[in-house]
Amino acid sequence: MRIKILSAAILALVIAFTACQKDDPVIEPCNPCVNEDLIDAPYDPQPYQLELPDWFPAPALPEDNPLTVEGIALGRHLFYDPILSSDSTQSCSSCHNPQLSFTDGNKVSTGILGIDGRRSSMAIVNMAFNTKGFFWDGRAATLEAQALLPVEDHTELNDSWENVVKKLARHKDYPAMFRQAFGIEKKSEITKELAVKAIAQFERTMVSYQSRFDKVVWEQQGWPTDAEQRGRDLFFVEFATNTQDHPGCSHCHGSALFTENNYFNNGIDSVATLSDFKDYGLGEVSGNIYDNGKFRVPTLRNIALTAPYMHDGRFNTLEEVLDHYASGGHGVSNEDANIQPFTLNEQQKQDLIAFLNMLTDTSFVNNPAFQSPF
Ligand code: HEC
Ligand code: HEC
Repeated sequence: MRIKILSAAILALVIAFTACQKDDPVIEPCNPCVNEDLIDAPYDPQPYQLELPDWFPAPALPEDNPLTVEGIALGRHLFYDPILSSDSTQSCSSCHNPQLSFTDGNKVSTGILGIDGRRSSMAIVNMAFNTKGFFWDGRAATLEAQALLPVEDHTELNDSWENVVKKLARHKDYPAMFRQAFGIEKKSEITKELAVKAIAQFERTMVSYQSRFDKVVWEQQGWPTDAEQRGRDLFFVEFATNTQDHPGCSHCHGSALFTENNYFNNGIDSVATLSDFKDYGLGEVSGNIYDNGKFRVPTLRNIALTAPYMHDGRFNTLEEVLDHYASGGHGVSNEDANIQPFTLNEQQKQDLIAFLNMLTDTSFVNNPAFQSPF
């Protein structure tokens, strides 16, 4: 029996060998000679220059992932493609919708399994300037490190990178796009590291600097309304003889970015001890109990578009946010000293909100370069 199988195998080999020996040009048998793994596409990446206004700080662009037109294009596709989820129903954009300044409008986000995450989606705005960690608690040091996590998070895309990379390698377009962006030669060289590099490149292009605030204040195009001007004075006042006029927002939401990406307890939780926060935030990452309940200060750019507010989406409106700050927090020991009670009359509240509305940048949310490429 064994001998029979062996001789049959030898016979097959001989036939195959003699088939290959034929002189006439055979097209058929040589098909397997084509290396299926090789990618047929040019590699000629074009450097991409971020357009920035002179009132912005310098971006923190990593040397090992320079922006290129091709890298950004690939990242944009990956960001909007449900191929990154195990059942092809969600992409990054499911929770980061450009019309909502790349948030999802929900209290907390829900992934493909219908399981609620514990936190509210974050705006993806002016990421290129943040060097102090990503997420509400700063647990990802870079945008590249951040982008690795949603794919395998079971409350988000719930796939494995191993599987996603396989899907990308057999896709009709992605191998060529990876080659154009990163110069790889074979499909088997597609990796999660390259995928997140491309996504991070795309995210770094999402710069918002054309709000009404920028136009009026920095470009001197037009004038603020009286309400906007009063609101601006309330927001930025650094010192006040009378705390009633001192909301102190700019202590933490200052600079051209309306955040300096620092971490604070802004007083939203009433807890008896520092171990009682439901979500430890920065404390979970640093292991320092004094950091419990501290979260990264979010930008206020496009804030009118990103309700509900705070890491757990607890406030539905900006009025509720202002009521919280005016109440002066709960006196928890690590609350920042700038969380102090103040009084705003109805007019002042509306003034502050008029000012916050000036930070809406419709040219950012409608920028064709940031929309789905599909
Ligand atoms: C199911 C909803 C969901 C999906 C899908 C999702 N995100 Fe998020 N994203 C969130 C939530 C919620 C947070 C905040 C989580 C936290 O702080 O723990 C967040 C945070 C972020 C941040 C941090 C922003 C900052 O200022 O620190 C970035 C960047 C980001 N997501 C990009 C992505 C990318 C890229 C993808 C796709 C690979 C993605 N997200 C997929 C919900 C989602
Ligand atoms: C001590 C620093 C500090 C001060 C002062 C401060 N904030 Fe905040 N702000 C924060 C932090 C930290 C968060 C995120 C907290 C969280 O989610 O748990 C936040 C969140 C917010 C949010 C929600 C943003 C989002 O994307 O969900 C708004 C709106 C806001 N602040 C507006 C203001 C206004 C208006 C003032 C002035 C009245 C102000 N803040 C004063 C630190 C501060």
